[in-house]
Amino acid sequence: MTHQDLISQIPAIDRLAADIETMAAFTDPEHPFTRRPFTAFFKQGRQWLREQMAASGLAIELDAAGNLIGRRPGQEDLPPILIGSHTDTVAGGGRFDGVIGVLAGLEIVRCLDELSILLRHPLEIVDFLAEEPTDFGVSTVGSRGMSGNLTAEMLAQTDGRGVTLAEALLDLGGRPADIAAEARLPGDIAAYLEMHIEQGPVLHQRAIPLAAVTGIVGIRRFSVVVEGEANHAGTTPMSLRKDALVAAARFVIDAESIIRAEENAVGTVGYLKVVPNMANVVPGRVELIVEMRSIEPETIDGIGQELQHRAREIAQARGIAISVSRLTDAAPVQADPRLIEIATQACRETAPGALVLPSGAGHDATQIATIAPVGMIFVPSRGGKSHTPKEWTDVADIALGVQALARALLKADVVF
Ligand code: GLV
Ligand code: MN
Ligand code: MN
Repeated sequence: MTHQDLISQIPAIDRLAADIETMAAFTDPEHPFTRRPFTAFFKQGRQWLREQMAASGLAIELDAAGNLIGRRPGQEDLPPILIGSHTDTVAGGGRFDGVIGVLAGLEIVRCLDELSILLRHPLEIVDFLAEEPTDFGVSTVGSRGMSGNLTAEMLAQTDGRGVTLAEALLDLGGRPADIAAEARLPGDIAAYLEMHIEQGPVLHQRAIPLAAVTGIVGIRRFSVVVEGEANHAGTTPMSLRKDALVAAARFVIDAESIIRAEENAVGTVGYLKVVPNMANVVPGRVELIVEMRSIEPETIDGIGQELQHRAREIAQARGIAISVSRLTDAAPVQADPRLIEIATQACRETAPGALVLPSGAGHDATQIATIAPVGMIFVPSRGGKSHTPKEWTDVADIALGVQALARALLKADVVF
């Protein structure tokens, strides 16, 4: 029997289902299924994961950027293949976004051991730190760190309590001072593979369980600060107001129109902070975050320029100040052509008719693509729902995803 023949025995579905249940329990019971990075729930989930990695004989490391890594040796002295994703969630997130990609890696390690398969390459299973947006204004913290894209400026950014990202990382066991020196360089990672839920409607609508991913949208986020003038809501005549919230509302509506006019883009204002946020005070200040996404870099540039222009017009018309600054920027990436081919074959050998799709969601793969070839596999999201507790993927589909990922891993082990 060849290794590829043995793959039909991957994964052990009951074990995979139990792992998903276990990780879902490490979430805030009052806000299902919330496991924000740096919180107690996140640390508990990681502790459990660390124990599972150790029980599977992996050599465990928490790297400088706070990524939890389990390493399995290979037969040859080669750079490792990485399988990774993230175990943090958005506030009010789901049970599957990120975590199934990490559990898939763990399950593949267990199965490879049981099937006595030793790869040519070392294999690293990675739980990247804080893929989702954090209170520090940065997302994909760990994968940025690993790929040399986490700047000193980002590490100095603070959350609402004045704690810096560097301090939060230290508390978690990371070593912010060593991140730049320990970042991996081109050639240090043979290939990176990530399995993830699609988070969109295509696979579910078409009743197809798997897709290979062609590329990942770029995401640019602007921090917008609207400075008006706080004043008494009962005594300030309408004509004398400098209401920051009304100006911000204008900006939000206009941003939607600007982005809607583009065929291949989406954009959102998902964060808004009103100061002082009192019923009887004219709002003096609003902070908001607007993000724009597209697979085309020039579309992101165009939207960015229009948003800045529109902010200036609103500020002028209302006699208030609006500042727009770039918070983060991740360029669109193409998956590696060899890994698209490998992932497509692996998906089609696992489930006939598997699709080839772009990703509208951001992933750790976006950062790793700056230093290594990346490839991704999607499994369906029921009703296209994600970033909500309603997120759902049948375990049978996740199991097909794990099997396809294992097939892709064995193919990549030969090709790279
Ligand atoms: C991550 O889930 C993102 O797409 O923002
Ligand atoms: Mn997400
Ligand atoms: Mn994710």
